[in-house]
Amino acid sequence: MIIAVDGPAGAGKSTISKLIAKKLNINYIDTGAMYRAVTYKCLSEGVDVKNEEAVIEVAKRTDIDFRDNNIYLDSKVVNEKIRTREVSANVSDVAKIKEVRYLMVDVQREIGTRNDVILDGRDIGSYVFPNADYKFFLVATPEERGRRRYKELCEKGFEGTLEEIIKDIEKRDEIDSNREFAPLKKADDAIEIDTTGLGIDEVVEAVVSKIK
Ligand code: CDP
Ligand code: CDP
Repeated sequence: MIIAVDGPAGAGKSTISKLIAKKLNINYIDTGAMYRAVTYKCLSEGVDVKNEEAVIEVAKRTDIDFRDNNIYLDSKVVNEKIRTREVSANVSDVAKIKEVRYLMVDVQREIGTRNDVILDGRDIGSYVFPNADYKFFLVATPEERGRRRYKELCEKGFEGTLEEIIKDIEKRDEIDSNREFAPLKKADDAIEIDTTGLGIDEVVEAVVSKIK
């Protein structure tokens, strides 16, 4: 079984997908974490993310693995390191490079053919697994998504404003939606859920009620 969960930043995809994976006892793959890991590696090596050739070269010699709720970049756990604002600000430039996407999608499809899995991302239902058993597209207003991210960041010591965070995610959504190859897009047959004003449990319930 393959369940695809797509949508813009802060819609609740990873939170909801993790809970559903637990409930159904299937694997969870955070595909955004893969693009973040490549971005983190580029930044660590001083590679300019606008330099496509250089980014592709980095992606080709990158090993990404998911095990025991951890993401491994070249055999090292990078769960927290890939969630910084700096990585977020650069990841969409890395993710718009077609060759980088080919490399990540190969890994995602390989995992999906071996296991029952729920994957969250931007192009899972529209491109990676067009024949997924279930497809969901989670949305929420930019203000609500910004508030959710802002709260998380403040807990980690962020001292900027909510407006900055809303701007950050709107900018990322714009690049993700307008890239040429496999953009952020609702698949025609995906079930859209507007999570604005909904609690996590309510969204999980809405998703699970559609899964037989
Ligand atoms: O969690 P958040 O919504 O902030 O982002 P993410 O899911 O970690 O994804 C980070 C970035 O990776 C997105 O903004 C996209 O640029 C890219 N991405 C993608 O292009 N395709 C995917 N399937 C997943 C993520
Ligand atoms: O993966 P994505 O970027 O779509 O969102 P996320 O990282 O799962 O969710 C962002 C934040 O919103 C998390 O801190 C969640 O706890 C919170 N959230 C929420 O408050 N209400 C929801 N219905 C869904 C998520």
